[in-house]
Amino acid sequence: MITIKTPREIAIMRIAGQIVGDTHNYLKQFIKSGVTTDQLDKLANDFIISKDATPSFKNYDGYPGSICTSINDEVVHGIPGKRKLREGDIISIDIGACYKGYHGDSAWSYPVGKMSEEKLELLKGTEESLFAGLSAIKEGAHIGDIGARVSEVAKKYNFGVVKELVGHGVGTHLHEEPDVPNYGNVGKGPILKEGMVIAVEPMLNLGTADVCILDDGWTIVTDDELPSAHFEHTVVVLKDGYEILTKR
Ligand code: MF3
Ligand code: CO
Repeated sequence: MITIKTPREIAIMRIAGQIVGDTHNYLKQFIKSGVTTDQLDKLANDFIISKDATPSFKNYDGYPGSICTSINDEVVHGIPGKRKLREGDIISIDIGACYKGYHGDSAWSYPVGKMSEEKLELLKGTEESLFAGLSAIKEGAHIGDIGARVSEVAKKYNFGVVKELVGHGVGTHLHEEPDVPNYGNVGKGPILKEGMVIAVEPMLNLGTADVCILDDGWTIVTDDELPSAHFEHTVVVLKDGYEILTKR
């Protein structure tokens, strides 16, 4: 079932989303070569807790971190640890926060120091694909309209679209119906209605679209070990468009 959120629920989700956006803005200053992903995890965890929220990912299906930190060929769900960021890395940071029982979810990929032209282009194209996907959202549009627009941008850049992982509804659960794939056909899939809340999250790869999972049971990496990027916003569907809840 796809739930419609009441104005009262949306007001709470706006706060949850703002906490996620603010956590991204806060973490940005610490993204430098030499910092460990554990340090970023602790900073994010403490920031979220200071806002009277809890990190949504901690213990989710046994996930050990408070955030996900995925470097270069790691697509998503990288577990924070002792690894240090290095000049030229892409670091994708995925953050979820739960406030008064409602979640916000947003991922962003950042350059560490100076980065190669092709990696910069991957970040630019993936961010563009997120906003292209979002631009399809309004009451009466179909879920397939979103993925079609994401894929169109990926095709323009010749980037691989990860198909094994998808966006999702958001609410009292981090992952709700419907699935929001990053591919699809215009006019296909569930119809959007005002008050639905969804996370759109394209994962685009510089090379092959194919991915696999590491032995840690979480980290998704590209098959060809080429870099990947991930951009995600949680939004509420409006009559004529959408409102970003995870503003940054
Ligand atoms: N934003 C991620 C997603 O929607 C959440 C990470 S799942 C976790 O898939 F298990 F790592 F928490
Ligand atoms: Co998500």
